[in-house]
Formats: sequence, C-alpha cells, structure tokens
Amino acid sequence: MVQIAVVEGDGIGQEVIPVARAVIEAVRPDFSLYDVEVGYGRWKRTGSACDAETMESLRAADAILFGAVTTPPDPEYRSVLLQIRRDLDLYANIRPIRGDGFDLVIVRENTEGLYSGIEWREADRACTLRVITEKGSRRIARCACTLAKQRRHLTIGNKANVLKSDAFFLEICTREAEEAGVPCKAHYIDALCLDILMHPDRYDVIVTTNMFGDILSDAAAYLVGGLGLLPSANIGDKHAFFEPVHGSAPDIAGKNVANPIAAIKSAAMMLRHFGDTEHAAAVEEAVRLTVAKGTRTVDLGGATGTREFGEAVLGELGAL
Ligand code: NAI
Ligand code: MG
Repeated sequence: MVQIAVVEGDGIGQEVIPVARAVIEAVRPDFSLYDVEVGYGRWKRTGSACDAETMESLRAADAILFGAVTTPPDPEYRSVLLQIRRDLDLYANIRPIRGDGFDLVIVRENTEGLYSGIEWREADRACTLRVITEKGSRRIARCACTLAKQRRHLTIGNKANVLKSDAFFLEICTREAEEAGVPCKAHYIDALCLDILMHPDRYDVIVTTNMFGDILSDAAAYLVGGLGLLPSANIGDKHAFFEPVHGSAPDIAGKNVANPIAAIKSAAMMLRHFGDTEHAAAVEEAVRLTVAKGTRTVDLGGATGTREFGEAVLGELGAL
C-alpha cells in the first residue's frame, strides 16, 4: 500500500493540509496517510523541531505531503525544511506555473548554493558560503533537460557575469542541454525576474540555483494571483516531497482565510508522481470549476473560508 507521511507544520499549514488531505482521501481511499509532527510549534513544545525518529518516519514514506514551517530569525534555530531537503537528498524543486497563455516550470536546485548551510558569524562580519558542485549542477541540469525534452526549451537563470560559481553552473547546464539536444538559452537572473512577469509566454523550463530559484518562483507567483496558488514538488532519487510554495503565513494563520489551492495542487502533483494522471487531472479540474463558479478565498477577492473552499472542491470532484 502507498504510504503518505502528512506534515501539517505551523501556521496555515494546519489549515490548508487538512483540505489537501481530504482531497487525496476522496480520490485515493487505498492510500495510507499518517501524521508526522515537524516544525517550530514542536520545537517550542519539546525543544526539537524534527528528531532522528521523525526523520525515519519521513524516510519510510513513499511520499510526503508537507504544509509549511515557521523559521524564526533566531540564530539558535536551524531551518528544519533545509535539513529535510538535505537529509532526503531532495535535489530538484519543481515549481510549475500555469496561466492564460503561459505554462512554465521553474526547476530550482535544492541542496546547495547559498543554502549549503556553511556559514558563520564573526564579531564584525557574517559569511555564507555559496557552494556549487559539479554533481549538484549536473543532476539538476539533467532533471531540467528531461522535462524540457518532453516540452519545448530550457532557460538557464544565472549570474555568471558576477559569480564564478554561476559561470561553473552555466557551463555544466549548457553542456547537459547540448548533450540532451535541448534548445537552451542563458538569461541573467535579475533581468529574468522582470522578463518572466512581462513575457511569461517566452519561457518553458527554467533551471537555476537554489536561492535564485526561491526568489524567481515567489516573484512569478504574481502571474497567477499570489502565493496561495503555487504548488511544488521536491524530488530526489529516493524520496518525493510535495508542498505549497508559500510559508506558514503567521499574519493570516488561525483565521480560516488561507487559500488551500497551492496545497491541493501539491496533492495533485503527488498523484501524478504515482502515475495517477487521471485523478490528478480531476483534482485540478475540480479546483478550476470551483474558482470559475465564483467560490474564492479572500486573496482572490472572495469571502469563502479555507474549509468551505475545500468542501466546494470535494463537491465538484464528486460531481465530475
Ligand atoms: P509566506 O509565504 O508565509 O507569506 C507571504 C505572504 O503571502 C503573507 O502576506 C501571507 O499572508 C500570504 N500568503 C501565503 N500563503 C497564502 C495562502 N495560502 N493564502 C493566502 N495568502 C497567503 O512567507 P513569509 O511571510 O515570508 O514567511 C512566514 C513564515 O513562513 C516564516 O517563518 C518563513 O520562514 C516560513 N516559510 C516557510 C516555508 C516552507 O515551509 N516551505 C516557505 C516560505 C516561508
Ligand atoms: Mg520561498
């Protein structure tokens, strides 16, 4: 039986994940879902955000459905999400963004770059090391090329004009694209952040390093109406992890106003990962119909609550 670890996490994770969970339960009653507690709330309660035993239960799952965790700017606190991504070697962060007249996928390297975790503070300065490896770059380039081959073309988001580490990344990605026979262009990341908003139709698959991909995908959320709509997959060779792009949104947490679409679409990505394109497409269609009928959460100009939106999606699913 397919085993899914469900991590609600903190803040609105605890509101949007139950909705996504109900959707999976509706279409795949054969999946076994179990809860795993991870996050800042747990850290405050027990002193540990995610211990070795928790990592084991995540590792044992066929896939993980994850909400969001709060990372306080406390120098003593290390991001649990970065730890999970690194421990499970979830090297490819895949962020599809589809709207009227555009359909693009950001493929973000997820294990190194500026988030390598090699950093320190001194009395009068702080340093973060940006590590780009051949292995890390090659495997993310291959992942992006595989996608681009099934689609149209590849853009390599980079800052090779300033950073030696990015010149290295660009070289490796260019070589992989040539070998795969994928049409490919390089684009400086700062200009790309603007161009993706002005001409999203010009892009297809975009591969980039960790932090640039983080920033680019949040900016690109503007194209579809905000962070509440964007799903993502974190994929490695052995593990798969699905989560909304957004965070725990403490400003709106606990009010039943968060948009659960990103979480529901992350669940749909998970279904697709298991080869269940039929249910994945049904879930996406149910979301589309719900919104088209005017059922919208506050971020989309409506007044429907998180739970009520979830119930409407379940209703559409049942009627399909
Ligand atoms: P955020 O994504 O939580 O929120 C940014 C803005 O978007 C907020 O105004 C929020 O209300 C809004 N928003 C986000 N998701 C929404 C949704 N589903 N529906 C409606 N509005 C939504 O990012 P922020 O504020 O930078 O970070 C808050 C906390 O989340 C921090 O502790 C941060 O470290 C953490 N975080 C966690 C992530 C994860 O677990 N993957 C990713 C990003 C941030
Ligand atoms: Mg982010």
